[in-house]
Amino acid sequence: MPFPVQRKRRLRVSESMRRLVRETHLEPSQLVLPLFVCPGEAVRNPISSMPGHAQLSIDELLKDCAAAQELGIGGVILFGIPESKDELASGAYAHDGITQQAVRAVKTSVPQLLVMTDVCNCEYTSHGHCGKVAGNEIDNDATLEWLAKAAVSHAVAGADMVAPSDMMDGRVGAIRTALDAAGFPNTPIFAYAAKFASVFYGPFREAAESTPQFGDRRSYQMDPANGREAMHEMELDLEEGADLLMVKPALPYLDLIRQAKDRFPVPIGAYQVSGEYSMIMAAARNGWIDQDRAMMESLTSIRRAGADIILTYFALDAARAVA
Ligand code: PBG
Repeated sequence: MPFPVQRKRRLRVSESMRRLVRETHLEPSQLVLPLFVCPGEAVRNPISSMPGHAQLSIDELLKDCAAAQELGIGGVILFGIPESKDELASGAYAHDGITQQAVRAVKTSVPQLLVMTDVCNCEYTSHGHCGKVAGNEIDNDATLEWLAKAAVSHAVAGADMVAPSDMMDGRVGAIRTALDAAGFPNTPIFAYAAKFASVFYGPFREAAESTPQFGDRRSYQMDPANGREAMHEMELDLEEGADLLMVKPALPYLDLIRQAKDRFPVPIGAYQVSGEYSMIMAAARNGWIDQDRAMMESLTSIRRAGADIILTYFALDAARAVA
């Protein structure tokens, strides 16, 4: 029976009424904070395009991890910025590499905090690509070996979960096999399964110093136009042994988050990437939008679309907002 029997506004009259009928909730435990770790001591080198974020030396990183634990967020994901880069991405899989040292320090000083690691090569290669360069191409199968070694080195250091973000074919299977062989059958793989060649990674590449020196990432990251292909990527990653699946970026790909949620019986993550964060921060700093409301509305929308877990640079602020 339509109006005047139906009046949708009845349930919107007050905040207490709206709260009662709210369908989507944001909990600190659903949020994962990305952090950038660099060599040195007492370093907190601000990232100009990502206000509020900085490259952190391990001692400073521990402070942010303690804050994250205090706020009850789901975990942190670590990105390493090595002292030096080379053709072979040696720093990515060195047992005393920057990420491996950081994982050890965090697991020692804040042991309850869940630590994920990003498994990729672009921060560690002199050319900035995510894999081994052969001529003008990225050699898929040769890169799998680096990725597998990196994932094992993170697990040895104490990582609770590894998250491959390189988009090479077969990486999840290669990492699963290597982890099992190294005695880590219980380390889960959070696959950046549907990762698009997105302009919204721009600020991250400043933060991680990982801009490709030639070409772009379109021969391995996905074409933003393709949704069915994203479902196939996810299906393959699941078959290879992924425990959780991620869509990245988040806000421009809400349709795919929803499809993945309806289709796959595993936790679905979404990465609200650097550019999504920077756009909100830039507009807020100009006085054009309200920062906290834009943060909450975007995160709530990503949850409503179906994300169980959100990787976001707003993790600490959002956890404070819902506390
Ligand atoms: C590494 C990686 C990237 C991001 C996460 N892991 C950069 C890229 O693929 O260029 C982007 C995260 C962000 O923009 O916040 N491959």
